[in-house]
Amino acid sequence: MLEVDQLNAFYGKSHVLHGVSLWVGAGEIVALLGRNGSGRSTTAKAIMGLVASQGSVLWRGQQMQGKKTFEMAQSGLGYVPESRDIFPTLTVEQNLVLGEKPRQAAGRWSLDRLYAMFPQLKARQHTAAGLLSGGEQQMLTLCRSLIGDPDLIIIDEPTEGLAPQVVTLVGQFLTQLKARGVSVLLIEQKLTLALDLSDRCYVMGHGSVVFEGTPEQLRQASAIRQEWLEV
Ligand SMILES: Nc1ncnc2c1ncn2[C@@H]1O[C@H](COP(=O)(O)OP(=O)(O)OP(=O)(O)O)[C@@H](O)[C@H]1O
Ligand SMILES: [Mg+2]
Repeated sequence: MLEVDQLNAFYGKSHVLHGVSLWVGAGEIVALLGRNGSGRSTTAKAIMGLVASQGSVLWRGQQMQGKKTFEMAQSGLGYVPESRDIFPTLTVEQNLVLGEKPRQAAGRWSLDRLYAMFPQLKARQHTAAGLLSGGEQQMLTLCRSLIGDPDLIIIDEPTEGLAPQVVTLVGQFLTQLKARGVSVLLIEQKLTLALDLSDRCYVMGHGSVVFEGTPEQLRQASAIRQEWLEV
């Protein structure tokens, strides 16, 4: 579904991605792992056209390089950045509704379905989003990204800074996505979670892909884990 080939990315003169190639198939969860600064967020931004880049990004066979981020969203490619960009003064429900596409046909994720998945959000539906806990804000960000009914979603570090119970919720959220046939490119720091949830994984180092394989292969590749993941 998503095929990234020889992607290079630049912040001004600094050349950060060096020929990154990866793909995500229909219904797959693919983990993108690596240490801080290895280039995972930049890969996501380059796919979404948010940083200067060269290379090929094919989404359902169509070239996305040069397209606007909102055009990609409309074609079913979703993105949840590292920062939780909710609107703090709007209520939970107003934040969710903002994700709706104009003239949207009924998608996979109605408000009711999202509330059924996360009763905590329903309980807070009329609360200003800025008053939610960090975990609730993250669930809100994730849920909002579904209102537009993406077929593939790139999620950047959804569990960062969250308490263990909330990490479990995020895991359930990802499992639900998979059950409904949504593909995920998951950028994640927590190796155990990533290995448990993903069908395949990539490890990045210094702006390049240094490993590609199944979770089982990565569990066995202790040299790769030591060199590129463990601190
Ligand atoms: N806006 C920016 N301007 C200049 N350099 C940047 C910018 N953002 C990131 N970089 C640099 O690009 C490299 C890759 O950063 P990136 O954010 O992609 O890493 P990451 O793997 O997502 O790690 P983490 O999220 O833990 O920081 C790093 O060396 C970083 O310092
Ligand atoms: Mg990052």
